[in-house]
Amino acid sequence: MEIHVISIFPEMFGLIAEQGVISRAIKQGVLSLTIHNPRDFADDKHSTVDGRPYGGGPGMVMMLEPLLKAITAARLACDGEPTVIYLSPQGEKFNHQAAARFAQDSLSQESSLILLAGRYEGVDERVITSMVDEEWSIGDYVLSGGELPSMVMIDAIARLLPNSLGNAESAKQDSFVEGLLDCPQYSRPEQFEGQSVPGVLLSGDHQAIADWRMMQSLGRTWLRRPDLLKKIELTDKQVDLLEKFKREL
Ligand SMILES: C[S@@+](CC[C@H](N)C(=O)[O-])C[C@H]1O[C@@H](n2cnc3c(N)ncnc32)[C@H](O)[C@@H]1O
Repeated sequence: MEIHVISIFPEMFGLIAEQGVISRAIKQGVLSLTIHNPRDFADDKHSTVDGRPYGGGPGMVMMLEPLLKAITAARLACDGEPTVIYLSPQGEKFNHQAAARFAQDSLSQESSLILLAGRYEGVDERVITSMVDEEWSIGDYVLSGGELPSMVMIDAIARLLPNSLGNAESAKQDSFVEGLLDCPQYSRPEQFEGQSVPGVLLSGDHQAIADWRMMQSLGRTWLRRPDLLKKIELTDKQVDLLEKFKREL
């Protein structure tokens, strides 16, 4: 998968490209990440990319031309036809299903994304109308730039690409993958200040462990995110396990 980011702060992406899951995906050759700085496409000696808003008001707006040129350069660098995404608090709420769709698309075809990270009061609306295919938000709050939202999207997608995680099974058990929250996890020590690891996890009985984990997943989802439970159909066994969880609570 090929990801291009349009950002006036390319240095912010250095860390994710060198450490963790994204870096691993890049090294495994399943992801490429290129940053394009709109300042390189500005036509004055100060590399200006922002202008005062027409109609007045506070703040600055990212100007049309440097952004259009940067997006065009990114498009030309893409192998396939890219999807241009503007990270915006006004976009559709990003979630696991969206990340999974982007990751899946990259397996079936040459898939490229161009992520436009805004700054200031946002970008000139004509950039959106002329070049943006989709707008995605990472939540109902306003950040000062689209760099962190871009990184959130890239990380969520990268961990679903083949070979990006050390253990391919781990992503399958994560929250939201099967429509449920993940179960509680434990590691050493077995006892800590009066709290012990649930006995079933020490039993070596794989079926009992799997049932306990499923029961905890169902129970946590029921307690914390009942909205998720309404979206999936539980098997008879899952219904029994959830009833057991409720009885034991
Ligand atoms: C200060 S914000 C501009 C907010 C804009 N004036 C508004 O209220 O819709 C600057 C940039 O940060 C990014 N941004 C801020 N919050 C975001 C969010 N929740 N999701 C995605 N991008 C966000 C966008 O790229 C935006 O252009």
